[in-house]
Formats: sequence, C-alpha cells, structure tokens
Amino acid sequence: MEEIFKNSKASSSSSSSALVKDQEEMNKKIEEFIATLPVESDGSALFYQFKGCWYPNLFSVLTIQGTITADLLFKAQDSDIILASTPKSGTTWLKSLIFSIVNRKRFPPNKSPLLTTHPHILIQFLEIGHYRNGNIPRNLDQLPKPRLFATHSHYASLPRSIRHSSCRIVYICRNPLDNLVSLYHFRRSFGKNQPEMDTMYENYSRGLTDFGPFWDNILGYWQASLDKPEEVLFMKYEDLKEDIVFEMKRLAKFLGFPFSVEEENEGLVEEISSLCSFEILKNLEVNQTHKPYREGGVSANAFYRKGEVGDFMNHLNPSMVENLMKITQEKFAGSGLVFKYSLNKLHNS
Ligand code: A3P
Repeated sequence: MEEIFKNSKASSSSSSSALVKDQEEMNKKIEEFIATLPVESDGSALFYQFKGCWYPNLFSVLTIQGTITADLLFKAQDSDIILASTPKSGTTWLKSLIFSIVNRKRFPPNKSPLLTTHPHILIQFLEIGHYRNGNIPRNLDQLPKPRLFATHSHYASLPRSIRHSSCRIVYICRNPLDNLVSLYHFRRSFGKNQPEMDTMYENYSRGLTDFGPFWDNILGYWQASLDKPEEVLFMKYEDLKEDIVFEMKRLAKFLGFPFSVEEENEGLVEEISSLCSFEILKNLEVNQTHKPYREGGVSANAFYRKGEVGDFMNHLNPSMVENLMKITQEKFAGSGLVFKYSLNKLHNS
C-alpha cells in the first residue's frame, strides 16, 4: 500500500491523457493490492478487510477501491466538513441538516435544493461517490467552501490527508439493534439473494457488516471526539430524534455556523428541522422514487423506511436482542458510551 502511495503519479491536476494512463496504472496496482487483503462473503456480498474495517462490494460499487484511491489522492482543506457514519445510522438525515445549516444564507428552507435533489447527491461519499471504483474527480477544488464530504470509513482508515488536516468531522451512529434492522431492510431493497435476518445477525455479531465491525467503527470516532473535541463531533440518531433543536444548535456551533439570536427568534432552527424531518423528506418526489438516486446506485427511496427508535422489537427475537446488547456492553466497557433503545428508557450498554 505504501508502495502505491509513493509511486502514485495520478492526481486531479494531471493533464487528461496523462491522467488516464496514470489512473489505469494506479488502478492496476490497487487491484493487485486488494487481491492480497482478507476477503469474506456474507452469503451475498464480498467484503474486503483493510485496516480493520470491512469494505463491502455493493451493487457495482467496490468500496475498498474508492477508499484506497481517496486515501492516495484526496487533498483535504482545513475548512472541509466531513460527515462520517456507520451505514444506516441517520447519514441521510445528517447530510440534509449539515447542507441546510451551512448553506442557509444561499438557500433558505423554502428554496432549498433538498426539495428537488437527493441528500446523497448534495453531499457525496468519498469512497462511494467521488472516488467510486477508482474514479479520479477533477472538480473538487471548485466546490463551494466549506466543501462537504461523507464517508463510512473507520477513523483509523480515513484518507491520510483528512487525519493530517484540521477539518471538522461530524460522526453519527445509532444503537446496534435498530442499526441491524435498518441494514437488513436496506439490503432487501437491493432485490433477491440478500441474506435472511438470521444470517445477517450472525455476521453482524462477529463484526462482518458494511464498514464494520460496528463497534470498532464507533469507538474510533468516540475516542477522537474525546481527544479532539474541536475537530470531531460525536452524535447519536436517538438524540436527534429526542431533541432535534438542541442537537441542531450544537451541530451548527461546532460547524462554525452558529444560529444567531435573531435566527432563533425567527424560528429558523425549527424551519430547517421541519424541512429535514423524515415525514417531509420521505414524501418529496425526488426521494419517493424507486429509481436509483444516481447512476448505478441504490433506489432513492431505500434511504427512507420507518425512521423510528425501537423498531428492532418488531424484527429481532429476545435472544438476538440479549446477545447484541451483551456484546455492546462488553465492547464499550469503560468507554462511557451508552445508547438509547427506546426514547423513554436508557439502557447501560
Ligand atoms: P430505518 O430503516 O430504521 O427507518 P442512513 O441514512 O445512514 O442510510 O440511515 C437510514 C435510516 O435513517 C433509516 O432508518 C431511515 O428511515 C432513517 N432516516 C432517513 N431520513 C431520516 C430523517 N430525515 N429523519 C429520521 N430518520 C431518517
């Protein structure tokens, strides 16, 4: 891997013919490198393990390839904002909130691009979007500042230039029970031949899940948020559900776009939270369609299902619940991290 990094000439500033040649060479080396990584199947998709994180091949997307390309080529700017998350933890919601908060002077809620554009287009993933399958994006320098990006990678496997910059990282996660159920439904939206719940649960429990192990994904960002609170903000889906106004103000302040007293008095926080609410976003035409949100992507509506805390009760049996809570308790022991499993009750996990 370090060898590819040293030898990589491809960059977004190369001329186009040189770029194609360099890109082909680099992709070949990356493919050779990927072939050396541990690989496992969950019964449907293949997963590659890199720096402790399981990268899935989903649809036509090889997330490992995009991850390595981004690691080699992405040049973070200190003003960048990176949204990191475990998949199915509220990424789509947080993308909508961050986009709206940061761009509220350009786009007041009634003129928001969210009304006509899928949140995953407005803030794209590095590994799944910009650097998808080894693509080299050429326009990242032209994006409006602060540039907004997303990733599902672990903190330890973020592109090196992010870790060496002082850009802001907002992380969101969710309790493992609702997370697993959400993931199960998401995978079923891909069509037939997706694992049944029993298989998904088994794989999830041993860490084999998209960008898993789930607990490691969380613990890296949790520790980083404790070490560098000015650079990493740690958020939970359940907290957003419980008190969206409080969480939005915390988020806006962290991002360097705090709400002014006038904005608060005018009800702007509530207006943005309403625009980004599950009920509003889910029912917009752009988010209701079965069509992919981008070419070769997942159906636009697969990102909006139920949007509740505690839906696991309808899908997991008591022994699954008990076992996942036990694993979570063991993994998070001494960390101070707890999750809510319903909005009225705090469990010690
Ligand atoms: P459920 O499957 O439990 O309904 P991600 O965006 O990380 O893929 O996570 C998807 C989960 O967030 C899904 O959970 C989805 O319904 C929920 N979700 C999407 N948009 C939301 C919103 N605006 N508010 C609350 N939950 C939302």
